[in-house]
Amino acid sequence: MKNIYITTAIPYVNGNPHLGHAMDYILADVLRRYMMMRGENVRLQAGTDEHGSKIYKKSVEQGIPVEEFVNQNAKKFQDFIHSLGVEYTDFVRTTDADHERRCQAIWEKLSDHIYKDKYEGWYCEGCEGFITDKEHDENEGICPDHKKPYVKLSEENYYLRIADFKDRIREAIESDEMKITPAFRKKEFLNLLEDMPDVSISRPKESVQWGVPVPGDDSQVMYVWIDALANYITILGYPEEDISDFWPANTQIVGKDILRFHAGIWPAMLMGLDLPLPKNLLAHGHITVGGEKMSKSIGNVIAPEEILGKHGLVPFRYYFTRHASTTDDADFTWDKYEAAYNELANDLGNLVQRLATLAKKNEIAGQQGELKDLPEFDERMEKYEFNFAFEILWRQIMDLNKRIDEEKPWALAKTDPEKAKEVLVVIIKNLLDINKRLAIFIPDTAERIDAIFTAEQIVPPETPLFPKA
Ligand code: MSP
Repeated sequence: MKNIYITTAIPYVNGNPHLGHAMDYILADVLRRYMMMRGENVRLQAGTDEHGSKIYKKSVEQGIPVEEFVNQNAKKFQDFIHSLGVEYTDFVRTTDADHERRCQAIWEKLSDHIYKDKYEGWYCEGCEGFITDKEHDENEGICPDHKKPYVKLSEENYYLRIADFKDRIREAIESDEMKITPAFRKKEFLNLLEDMPDVSISRPKESVQWGVPVPGDDSQVMYVWIDALANYITILGYPEEDISDFWPANTQIVGKDILRFHAGIWPAMLMGLDLPLPKNLLAHGHITVGGEKMSKSIGNVIAPEEILGKHGLVPFRYYFTRHASTTDDADFTWDKYEAAYNELANDLGNLVQRLATLAKKNEIAGQQGELKDLPEFDERMEKYEFNFAFEILWRQIMDLNKRIDEEKPWALAKTDPEKAKEVLVVIIKNLLDINKRLAIFIPDTAERIDAIFTAEQIVPPETPLFPKA
């Protein structure tokens, strides 16, 4: 049994959880369940990123004390994660006293690589990110993700000397010591690394009051990304505790927009602390709606609750794991969603109904499934191509449907009842075998299938698994 640590990005709590966040959690949960199926000991972290000017301003706008504001929102995220059938082992809030204290200790340990200087340049409040002049010009002064103009900053900041680590970061990425998936994003980042400057890691208190104080300097608070990235190890107890049981992380899951923080600043911090780098960074794509970026100004934002409210959790997980690529952008439309629901009903729901009805008629007792070797499945999972792994299972389900059609156990029952029973038992066992892996993607359905076909007497469910409206 191996210890496996999986992490998710910690969202800002200035708004409600959205579909993009769901992607982080569901992918992490798929990996978690897969690792557990392989017998590993898995720890899954989730949390909330609660500092920074964006959040502070939002709380002021809403007239709620900031502490209360972040409490309310952190709770929303916890509830949201549970509503997705995702179970984390650790939840970190960057306003936790433990986290803040450990962050300050981390800062002190990095002090050899920290210096003070004046920052003159661009900043995106949406990204909470410092922008190079080149990027500013390429984007014509407007953040493509947040559609907001960059603001000019001129302030005294502390800097982390990325230059101290750049060559080693490049080496680690090129050699896959810290493997970035997908490969095209690795390439993209390596180009960016080329001219990555030292990063500012603090902000003056007069511009940002809501942050972790810089140790030994009352006038500065930590830059929100330093505080945020540290979460992955502070939750394990660093630096007070030995974290080597779970660090380095096996997989850190992030959206494509924040890969550069995780592939650049984060390894520099880890190297400065003499800690190993995560083994894998998995960058997923963004969810679009009808081919367009979801945005309040376009007015095409779909709340996850709306989708969950339609047919429940199973189709939600099904859609975003089978019909969304693990690594590329994925599109959502209601039409596609309905089509996916119909697939579930026709391919899987019908199979269960049909098979259970035949089993009852032929008085077949419950069976047991087995986790059979499936190397092509493992290969896809190891490459983080979860949607293709799921596809393999779906092909097997379609094969079972075909087999029933071809072997016609209902006709056999009239001429050769023993043979009919034999055929049905084989198909039921096969379904239970597939079901072991189905549980990674749609655990609730897998549980129901298990209950039906392992029961002493098999009977079809009173309501079909996926009722038609
Ligand atoms: N607080 C930072 C992360 C710090 S991690 C040390 C942040 N928060 S966020 O709320 O903006 O984003 C949280 C996660 O959601 C990120 O992985 C981000 O990529 C993901 N997504 C945000 N919008 C998304 C889509 N439209 N689609 C898919 N994922 C997206 O960044």
